[in-house]
Amino acid sequence: MAIIVNLLLIFSATILIMGNTSSAQLSTNHYKKTCPNVFKVVKSVVKSAVGKEKRMGASLLRLHFHDCFVQGCDGSILLDDTSSFKGEKTADPNNNSVRGYDVIDVIKSKVESVCPGVVSCADIVAIAARDSVVLLGGPSWEVKVGRRDSRTASLSAANSGQIPPPSSTLGNLINRFRAKGLSTKDMVVLSGAHTIGQARCTSFRTRIYSETNIDSFFARTRRGNCPRTPGSGDNKLAPLDVKTPTSFDNAYFKNLIDKKGLLHSDQVLYNGGSTDSLIKSYSKNPKAFNKDFVTAMIRMGDINPLTGSKGVIRKNCRKIN
Ligand code: HEM
Ligand SMILES: *[C@@H]1O[C@H](CO)[C@@H](O)[C@H](O)[C@H]1NC(C)=O
Repeated sequence: MAIIVNLLLIFSATILIMGNTSSAQLSTNHYKKTCPNVFKVVKSVVKSAVGKEKRMGASLLRLHFHDCFVQGCDGSILLDDTSSFKGEKTADPNNNSVRGYDVIDVIKSKVESVCPGVVSCADIVAIAARDSVVLLGGPSWEVKVGRRDSRTASLSAANSGQIPPPSSTLGNLINRFRAKGLSTKDMVVLSGAHTIGQARCTSFRTRIYSETNIDSFFARTRRGNCPRTPGSGDNKLAPLDVKTPTSFDNAYFKNLIDKKGLLHSDQVLYNGGSTDSLIKSYSKNPKAFNKDFVTAMIRMGDINPLTGSKGVIRKNCRKIN
């Protein structure tokens, strides 16, 4: 009798565990037998792309974020529009802004040549994001893999604010990340990704012309390459981190304390609110930033993956098989 009760307990506990965690099947060794060289291949392509243009590291990191925040980390952002299908690429947060699709294509074709039909595009994006951070001087971590690719994308979800806009309030940012299972601390530390990369004038124009919680010299400098009137200057670029724009370091947090956040959504993290103390602490402690960034990246990579019999392994990241 006792044995039967025990067996029942183990059985129901197993069902509970399996039923609960959609990411249970992501693991760092998913491709150990089926594509042992995938990490090497991804790294070599990312290395050459970032060697040519450092900004590409930033672009690949952001690509993973924008993939994960719409339908989960499922490669949905990579699908091209067709005559009968409109994907996420022209959504407001992505259009003329998200980059790196060509690099993902090169990685995918190399990976297909060594292990055809095995590695998902969603995993390639996650690995490329990690490699980018490392190449620009940031921390490393073991990337969990085993995601499969979606057969769909959602333009409406990509436009719905799930990817928060740069005009967001602090409350907005907290809520948008909470909706994806990420904490306020995750949100703050992941915003530290803005230690690399660039933004377009249209993303920071209002801040540099109308806000008061901005260093006046910094604002003046930025206005020099971002005309007040919307139009032809919309795509002019400025670095998100004024100090060390191509190094993954904690200068982003120091900038916020100096009122030199480029985006409105950056400066709200240090503007007298609940996240000020975290900003101060990361500005003084690069090790804590690196450690918490890694934890949060792994949590972001766990958002709603397709695993098991869900989804597919796309042959071409831009198309449904
Ligand atoms: C907290 C909410 C966030 C907001 C409101 C936000 C907003 C933005 C905006 C407006 C840009 C400039 C886009 C352009 O003008 O073309 C940008 C760039 C960037 N974002 Fe974020 N972002 C957020 C979180 C994140 C996260 C979580 C990551 C990654 C972990 C990230 C990584 C990047 C990177 C690396 C760039 C530069 C990309 C490049 O140079 O190609 N951001 N972000
Ligand atoms: C996307 O950008 C292109 C310019 O490259 C523009 O013609 C198009 O209208 C934009 N699409 C949307 C939906 O904003």
